[in-house]
Amino acid sequence: MTENRVVLVTGSAKRIGACIAETFHAQGFKVIVHANRSLSEAGKLVGRLNTVRPDSSKIVSSNLHESAEVETLAEKAMQCFGRLDVLVNNASTFFPTPLAESTQSQWDDLFNSNVRAAYFLSQKLTSELKKNRGTIINIVDTHADKPLLNHSIYNMAKAALKTMTRSLAKDLGPEIRVNGVSPGAILWSGTLERDNDPGVEQGRQKLLESIPLKRLGKPEDIAHMVYFLATTASYTSGQVIKVDGGRSLI
Ligand SMILES: NC(=O)c1ccc[n+]([C@@H]2O[C@H](COP(=O)([O-])OP(=O)(O)OC[C@H]3O[C@@H](n4cnc5c(N)ncnc54)[C@H](OP(=O)(O)O)[C@@H]3O)[C@@H](O)[C@H]2O)c1
Repeated sequence: MTENRVVLVTGSAKRIGACIAETFHAQGFKVIVHANRSLSEAGKLVGRLNTVRPDSSKIVSSNLHESAEVETLAEKAMQCFGRLDVLVNNASTFFPTPLAESTQSQWDDLFNSNVRAAYFLSQKLTSELKKNRGTIINIVDTHADKPLLNHSIYNMAKAALKTMTRSLAKDLGPEIRVNGVSPGAILWSGTLERDNDPGVEQGRQKLLESIPLKRLGKPEDIAHMVYFLATTASYTSGQVIKVDGGRSLI
């Protein structure tokens, strides 16, 4: 029975995070939608979910770059429904950092959103998740294993998130299972979506051709794996599953 169970998905106002939130909701979970800048999209998503089932979804806002706001996010999340069963660390920033031009503030941005917030949110919510024999799912990236050119800081942050997944699976068992999902190419990043440069289009086609399944994945492909790991995979912990159309094979 999932109807009293509660999931918090960070960065879930839109795109993959919103799809994860909707997938859990469709299975009866209460859903806490976290957003920073996309509060209007978050409001629309929560409105839609509450139309399906009244009082089944709430918004929490915080900037995960600010350590104090990570701490208060855990408190705000607990105030929503008074319990938590699943934490999905999905929020992320993603941008290039060629070595010669990268800055310490870019390092902080990429590490704080992709891994520091996930770590301290997990810490703050450990006792609640232990009580409910809950689970943590971290959204990693196949680039944690196979670095993306000129994105070294992002690659390192995701590699740290992958190691965090394996470390916390040891530290938090047996009560809490900790797993990860590593998406391949699912949605073009916000900047690439707006880019009409023919070179960018050619690059995309080349990338799609190189994937054994010859296409982008869908947010649902990620959301279904997250849901499976959180609910059905009761003897799985410390694993990071690639959902990449076979791209990691090439
Ligand atoms: N898209 C892909 O194809 C792909 C491929 C590999 C891995 N992934 C991983 O899959 C996950 C979802 O991907 P996506 O493309 O849907 O993500 P996204 O749109 O790039 O980012 C998701 C959300 O993260 C939130 N976020 C960023 N910095 C934040 C901060 N300082 N404080 C609070 N929230 C912050 C943003 O919330 P607000 O908008 O509310 O500010 C944003 O909407 C990410 O972890 C990503 O690394 C995606």
